[in-house]
Amino acid sequence: MIIQLSASFANNIPDPTTKAASKIAIAGLCDAAVQISAICAQGPLADGLGDNTGAENADGDTQKALDVQADEWIIHALKQAPVAYYASEEETGILTLDPSAPISIAADPLDGSSNIDTNVSIGTIFSIFATADGAPENSFFRPGREQLVGGFFVYGPQTTLILTAGNGVELYVLEPVTKKFVLAIANITLPSSRSEYAINAANTRHWEPPVHRFIGDCLAGKTGPLGEDYNMRWVGSLVADAARILSRGGLFLYPADARKGYALGRLRQLYEASPVAFIIEQAGGGATNGTKRILDLDLSELHQRVPFVFGCTHQVGLVTQYHTKN
Ligand code: F6P
Ligand code: MN
Repeated sequence: MIIQLSASFANNIPDPTTKAASKIAIAGLCDAAVQISAICAQGPLADGLGDNTGAENADGDTQKALDVQADEWIIHALKQAPVAYYASEEETGILTLDPSAPISIAADPLDGSSNIDTNVSIGTIFSIFATADGAPENSFFRPGREQLVGGFFVYGPQTTLILTAGNGVELYVLEPVTKKFVLAIANITLPSSRSEYAINAANTRHWEPPVHRFIGDCLAGKTGPLGEDYNMRWVGSLVADAARILSRGGLFLYPADARKGYALGRLRQLYEASPVAFIIEQAGGGATNGTKRILDLDLSELHQRVPFVFGCTHQVGLVTQYHTKN
């Protein structure tokens, strides 16, 4: 088996059929991740991975060769697992695999595409739901709190899998010699506060007033209203920023802004914000759209965007206050 899940993983999934199916699908995703990780490690030796394909995905992002390749490997893996429907950032509509299967999966096959060529961490994000009756959309058009599993792989100095099934957060590392994912941290928890934030500051002039005020007060440091010096980090790959925050705390913001097409920020709710929010909450952090809990938001469009704020509960709470009180 490519991954030996912990004995307590999936204890919170009551139905044995969906539980077993989730475990098989996670193993399939691990198979795809080993392939993606190997090709990432080749860098420029793997011909033209970061090249544009000339196409755009459903949300208007330019598709790179590795985006498409990762999507194909994931589809291949999930076809051999008990998966009914597959929703992907790289596919306009929902793919039907085996409609009688108990689970359905949404994924961002290759997160952080702009970093493919730069030897900076990128990843794969996924979310597992119990298949719903009726149309394929029913399995995905629902609040994120109904997820069975949220997870993401990071292809970086180590290839890791961060995973929750609603029973805490585990971290597995791909052992380079055996090519198996091994449990390394059984229960990741976030500190309640850390004065470090991640935001693309190049968009400052486009932000809405609450975000402007909050970041301005972070920059004001110890003698400002927040009374603390803040540090900043921005990798530009959601998975890498999320992995750092899970390892030491901090705050991530991709807010709505005034640019055309950014009225709901940049990140997609179904296969980016929801699984990351599930993991962050399970690690003791918070995840909102600025005011509301991400996992309580309904979904009405497959590729719907959402403003995304997550991390330590203290800093996430501050952002909510700036939106509601100032
Ligand atoms: O998938 C979208 C994404 O690449 C995220 O991984 C990342 O957090 C964000 O976009 C970076 O956006 P920008 O290039 O606007 O800073
Ligand atoms: Mn992404």
